[in-house]
Amino acid sequence: MKLFVIILSAYLAISSVCSNPVDKRLRNKGTIEGKFRFNEYDAIYLKLEEPTTYRLPNDSIPINYEINLTTNVHKKDFNFTGKVKIRIKIVEPTDKITLHYKSITINKIDIWNGLQPAPILLNASFNYIESHDFLIINLPNIFNKDTELLINIAYHGQLRDDGGGFYRGSYKTEEEVIKYYGATQFEVTDARHAFPCYDEPGIRAEMTLTIIHDKSYSAISNTDVVEQIEDETGNYWITIFATTPKMQTYLLAFVISDFEYVNSTETSRIPQRIYGVPKAIREGQGDFAANVVGQILGKLEEILDVKYPLSKMDHVALTTFNFGAMENMGLITYFHNSLLLDSSLPINLIEYENGIISIISHEYAHQWFGNIVSPIWWQYTWLNEGFATLFTEYIPQIVYPERGSMRNFHTSVMPMAFASDEMGSWAMNQYTEDPVKLWDKFGGIGYSKSGCVLRMFMEVMTEPVFLKGLNYYLTHNYMKAATPAELHAGLQKAYNEEYPTNTLDISELMYTWENQPGYPLISVTVSGSDLLFSQQRYPESDNEIYSVPLTFATQSKPDFTDKTPKIWLRTQSLQVPQTMISYDPNNWIVLNIDQVGYYRVDYDTSLWHSIINQLLVNHSVINPINRAVLQNELYLGCTEFNRVNAADGLRLLSYFGVETESIVWNAAVLTLKDLNEHLFGTAVYEQFLGIIKGITKPHLKVVGYDFMDGEDLEKSDLRSVTKTWNCMALDDDCFHNEYEKFLDFFENQDVANFDFCNALRIVDKDIFKDLLGQVASNDKYPYRNQILKSLGCSLDPENLEKLFGEILNIENILDSDERGSLLQEVVSKSVLGLEMSLEFIEESYAALSIVLDLYETMYKIASFINSDPKTSTFVSIINKLQTEDLISTENQQKILDRVAKNTKWIERNYHDILVHFGLLQTTTTTAFTTLVSEPQPTQLSTNIPVTTPNSASSFILQINLIIICGLLSINS
Ligand SMILES: *[C@@H]1O[C@H](CO)[C@@H](O)[C@H](O)[C@H]1NC(C)=O
Ligand SMILES: *[C@@H]1O[C@H](CO)[C@@H](O)[C@H](O)[C@H]1NC(C)=O
Ligand SMILES: *[C@@H]1O[C@H](CO)[C@@H](O)[C@H](O)[C@H]1NC(C)=O
Ligand SMILES: [Zn+2]
Repeated sequence: MKLFVIILSAYLAISSVCSNPVDKRLRNKGTIEGKFRFNEYDAIYLKLEEPTTYRLPNDSIPINYEINLTTNVHKKDFNFTGKVKIRIKIVEPTDKITLHYKSITINKIDIWNGLQPAPILLNASFNYIESHDFLIINLPNIFNKDTELLINIAYHGQLRDDGGGFYRGSYKTEEEVIKYYGATQFEVTDARHAFPCYDEPGIRAEMTLTIIHDKSYSAISNTDVVEQIEDETGNYWITIFATTPKMQTYLLAFVISDFEYVNSTETSRIPQRIYGVPKAIREGQGDFAANVVGQILGKLEEILDVKYPLSKMDHVALTTFNFGAMENMGLITYFHNSLLLDSSLPINLIEYENGIISIISHEYAHQWFGNIVSPIWWQYTWLNEGFATLFTEYIPQIVYPERGSMRNFHTSVMPMAFASDEMGSWAMNQYTEDPVKLWDKFGGIGYSKSGCVLRMFMEVMTEPVFLKGLNYYLTHNYMKAATPAELHAGLQKAYNEEYPTNTLDISELMYTWENQPGYPLISVTVSGSDLLFSQQRYPESDNEIYSVPLTFATQSKPDFTDKTPKIWLRTQSLQVPQTMISYDPNNWIVLNIDQVGYYRVDYDTSLWHSIINQLLVNHSVINPINRAVLQNELYLGCTEFNRVNAADGLRLLSYFGVETESIVWNAAVLTLKDLNEHLFGTAVYEQFLGIIKGITKPHLKVVGYDFMDGEDLEKSDLRSVTKTWNCMALDDDCFHNEYEKFLDFFENQDVANFDFCNALRIVDKDIFKDLLGQVASNDKYPYRNQILKSLGCSLDPENLEKLFGEILNIENILDSDERGSLLQEVVSKSVLGLEMSLEFIEESYAALSIVLDLYETMYKIASFINSDPKTSTFVSIINKLQTEDLISTENQQKILDRVAKNTKWIERNYHDILVHFGLLQTTTTTAFTTLVSEPQPTQLSTNIPVTTPNSASSFILQINLIIICGLLSINS
């Protein structure tokens, strides 16, 4: 499946729910020779689990299924009936057949002899174990190994309304008529809702599907229709599909609808169609996909050198769908906006197209990784999703290099992987079997981290050798189930052929990543005439040791092209003579070329100073990806490891006037935000904003303030980040530009292609009053939320006073959360707002305590309190609130702790920052106390209204996010 996680925060919310302790029992080694032997591989775990298992006993296995389904979904009748005939084989003597089923009603079960047409038992008795989705059929006696039986089951059920199993979807026609259709989503455990079956990913059988449906609808499934005949009433089609290859149940799919389609433009041996609701297809929304599917399929066949196994591929855009897309063999289902290009959506067209290309690549990659070779059990979901994640970016990079999709590894895949691992997650090979917990396997570890680990080994082995290894993996396990051991074996074979004299043991190397959670932080220290490399899992360690491929460039050998490992760090630490790696004393070294390795680096202070100097003198010596990575690592070096301080961060900023790569800019945002937050409202804040203006303006002069049709994404990205910060620094040109667009929008209700906060900086008093009145009285007001959040951006004291009035006005419709957020926005958007708010709170806290949650609001405001006299004012307010019983002692402490954290930051960094700005001599040591608790040392006024960057960017982006997040909390 495809999980499109665009916003990290949304992702974090999902993953934190899923987090689980790590199961150390699972450090298994697998069996290299181990072809798929039924259930033996996993049996070792079963013994360790609770007595009840969710796994089938597998004393019988299916050979094939004949499934007949009848539906009247066209007339909004959601009942369906089914008949399934399963040919099974007894594997161990048994008098019971155990299958999966879920939320369907069994009418009758008959057992027939599998080899001759004779009944054995009609109306067999059966039991349900609902908690485990088991259907247990009682046989009349024990049957021996290799006996073949036919199990005939008649049943009925209902199309679900939750997008799982066999479900109903709907859409509205142009005539506003609601049409219903039937569709499926079986991964992970929902095939059992459409028909009783052996619903495990390691079990395959041929399936022959027949669907009986109204003549006004058509049915599509994994394979071609072989026959369509009228039923006896003449009203229905009996649509019969070709028998599938031996296939996993979760990959079966069908859609019964009145959808239309467009053919793929590529004429290849595999016909492809793009299906969707009739209006969308007639408008040409499927044309973009129709142009790309052929090339993506062709490229995968070419690089893997394994043919796509079916004779057709259909791509269906569903209006009702829980994920981004699902890789059913031969019938990929998508949420409609993931496949169709609806140009009326206010989204950057190139980004939108890139999204479609990526998701098609992802699902196509699954046709090999997951469909041709499947994991023996969901424990190894990463064998599907890790490869799909890698190819989501890798295939578009080859087919459409100008779109630069591999960059997504650095901007989204790796950050997500690191974030998942930092949350104390589980190992890639972690075993799970409870159907609810199985969803955990479809998160940041199964997708992003696995994709990163695979990419690392792709570069370690080099692309051609890695692809050759994948070919061995796919051909040796063709249409079978596998474990990571089979993958290692394929890669090893290719590696040995290419490098007969090398002795790398691929499985040993890979297992350190697959079987241990977390990622390593590599520390580099200059130690005499050596460099010392050491590793530790970050942030918390259980003494994990990973096999880490180290690559690097040094000042005397600044080569950023060679991505093959120079040193394997396979112990906790390793001392290397400097001369051995072209490192000269007092020079820089940069690790992890192109961030191929799944690790982060912690440089010592002297190395950081050399790196920063290089960037200041000539940044282009270091390649853009590594420059971006260095920004992230600098942030950690400053905030976590104490190698550098905020003044070093400020010093580095000065080169950003000539840094034109948006990827580097975006990585620097962490440091920018940190500095901005901590300097907010302090005596040097205006100077800080001066620096920001100075480094953003030159770029805006080049790329302009406004999007131009057809411009490349890099240009838009650079504009977007530099404009955000330029506006934040209150550059007049910036928000006048935004305000004009706002006025345009306000009058013509045009597309909102501006940032509301920036636009409302200088909003006219009458318009402000009007907007405030609207949000206070009308909960249906369009864009209410954006405006509500942005009113606090105004730099006009009169406007802010009005806003305070509404916060206290109990006659209006604002709820207490909205009142709290209005106040926080004022505080965080300008120093003027912060100061006015503190006065307001001091005067009105009693009234405020009635209309909003004082603790929550004050806790959030505490982040913006950095220096005196604000700190003392704030602290005295908090103490008063506690004395007057408006907050508890415990909450008082929490707020004060937060303020103390800011004070600590100031203590640690402020002195050097003042030196940086030339406000102090380096020798002064008493600076901090004097400065923070005494009147300010410079004439810089802290009353100048200044702003902080908007956390949410433009409205367009928000729409984008709503669409994407709505689509998929999880898409494959
Ligand atoms: C669907 O089935 C239920 C019982 O299973 C029945 O009560 C209901 O009338 C059926 N609906 C239609 C439209 O036939
Ligand atoms: C399914 O329908 C086909 C076509 O009508 C028929 O030949 C077959 O016997 C049916 N199978 C089952 C299991 O009902
Ligand atoms: C798609 O192509 C097939 C085979 O060439 C053709 O029969 C069919 O009419 C085409 N359909 C559309 C909608 O273009
Ligand atoms: Zn997927």
